[in-house]
Formats: sequence, structure tokens, C-alpha cells
Amino acid sequence: MSHLGYAALMDSFQATIDADGRIEPRDAMPDGYRKTLIRQIAQHAHSEIIGMQPEGNWISRAPSLRRKAILMAKVQDEAGHGLYLYAAAETLGVDRADLLDMLHTGRQKYSSIFNYPTLTWADIGAIGWLVDGAAIVNQVPLCRCSYGPYARAMVRVCKEESFHQRQGFEILHTLCNGTEGQKAMAQDALDRWWWPSLMMFGPPDASSTHSEQSMAWGIKRHSNDELRQRFVDMTVPQADVLGLRVPDDGLVYDESTGHYSFTEPDYTELYAVVKGNGPCNEKRLAHRVKAHEDGAWVREAAAAYAAKQQEAVA
Ligand SMILES: [Fe+2]
Ligand SMILES: [Fe+2]
Repeated sequence: MSHLGYAALMDSFQATIDADGRIEPRDAMPDGYRKTLIRQIAQHAHSEIIGMQPEGNWISRAPSLRRKAILMAKVQDEAGHGLYLYAAAETLGVDRADLLDMLHTGRQKYSSIFNYPTLTWADIGAIGWLVDGAAIVNQVPLCRCSYGPYARAMVRVCKEESFHQRQGFEILHTLCNGTEGQKAMAQDALDRWWWPSLMMFGPPDASSTHSEQSMAWGIKRHSNDELRQRFVDMTVPQADVLGLRVPDDGLVYDESTGHYSFTEPDYTELYAVVKGNGPCNEKRLAHRVKAHEDGAWVREAAAAYAAKQQEAVA
């Protein structure tokens, strides 16, 4: 391809971005755009499947058959989200086996929120309400992401996430209207999950490394701090409905702006967890690697079956 040809292709890429159009897998795109998307979609996919662990931990201990059935469906949904996202990443020319390998060897990350333990049943409520709630705030703008396959995957994911959020809220609502001990359990879960949930939006804008370019490319639509604010504004009134106290003495509603002011989380904790020093990092990764190794026979059987089908056609 001539140098001029390349320049013309990049012009058409930029024109599509400027017109708020969608980039599709066969369209020309800058290398940095492709790499950024692969990194982000892979990290997102990894988060969906690692996120199955803290909740999977409670499937066998759910307090009723109804709760167990709902939780199993929820955890299965997360596996499905992982599948859509690995498929979306593959449209960019990578192999999901390589992406999994990068997860297993620590070369790609997943959301740090899943490195916290689920200590009580109320944590399952808090995860649905806060963690899936934060995921929705992060992901709704991704439905308008400039990369078509990612944007389309997000539409379906977001619909399912809103069910997840409501099931979490309903668990807490039941506990908050139960015995004093149950309500205290709900409060304890909120106390532990509040700050890590705020950290899900990433570092503050002033120290966020990838943001500016991602905004220019239409991958990211709002800054970390904007999204964090949106989450606080959405969640605090819901805590009031539950009769729970958000564990922040600095929380004040500002009539003039219509927003809550709040205390920033301790980002040194975020950086420590991202670096691998959270309470469950090692356990999560070891469990994932073991599940992958235990599943080797399934991949082999599927590949052998596919080869036989091909032979039958030929
Ligand atoms: Fe999900
Ligand atoms: Fe979810």
C-alpha cells in the first residue's frame, strides 16, 4: 500500500469518527486504536469471567431455592458477557486463547473490584446493587462506542446488568426489612463495598493515563470523575430507600448543582489492588488457571468434533 493510500484510509477513519459513525472490523483503523480496543475489551471480558468467582462462592449457600436459581442465572449471564466480549475482541484480529494466556500470566488485567472477598450473603446483594450498578454507569455510554462490535455487545450486556442490579437491590431490601441482625449485615456489606465500588471508575481524571486519546477516538465518552459522580447521585437515594447509611461523613447534597459532594476513595488502595496486592488476587487467578486446565478436555473434544465434521463435508 502506498503512503498516500494509507493517509487516505486514515482520513476516512477520522471522518467516520468525526461524524459519530461506527468503525467496523474490516475498516482501516490506526494501530493505536486497535491496540487500545483490544486491551480494553479483553480487560472487560476478563472482568466478566473473573467476576463469576465472588458470587459463585455463594451459589451453594444461597438462603432459598429461589435465591439459588436467581444467582445461578446471574452468574451464567456473566459468563455470557465474557463470551460476547471475547468474540468482539476477536474481530480485531486477536485469538481468545492468547487473551486468556495473557490473563493467566498477569499481562492483562481485570477489574480490581473482584479481588475483594464475599463474606456474607448480604455481599451478594451489595455486589448486584453497587458493582453491577457501577458497571451499568460505565457501560451505558459504551453502547455508543465508535467500534461497532463492542457497542452492539454492550446493548445486550447493559439490559442484563440492569436485572442484576435490581436482584442485588431486592436482596438488600429483603434484609433491610428483616430482623435487626439482617439489617446490620446489609449495612456491613455496604460499608465494605462502597469504597471499592467508587474505585471501579478508575483513577481521578488528573492522573488517568489513557483517557484523552480514548475520548478523541470515541471509545470513551465521559471522564472517570463524571461517571463516579453519576454513580453517587444515582446510588445515594437508593441507600435512603433501603434505610442504610452510606459510610461517608463528607456526603452532602448540593441544591445548587443537583449533585452530591462526596469523599474520594483512597486511591493508594486501588493502585495496590491493581498491582496484585488485594485480598484475593492470588486466589482469583489460581482458581481461573485451574478451571482453564480442568477444561482442556472440553476444548480438545470440541476441536476433534469440529475436525470430524469438516472431514464429513470434504
Ligand atoms: Fe456482566
Ligand atoms: Fe452483571
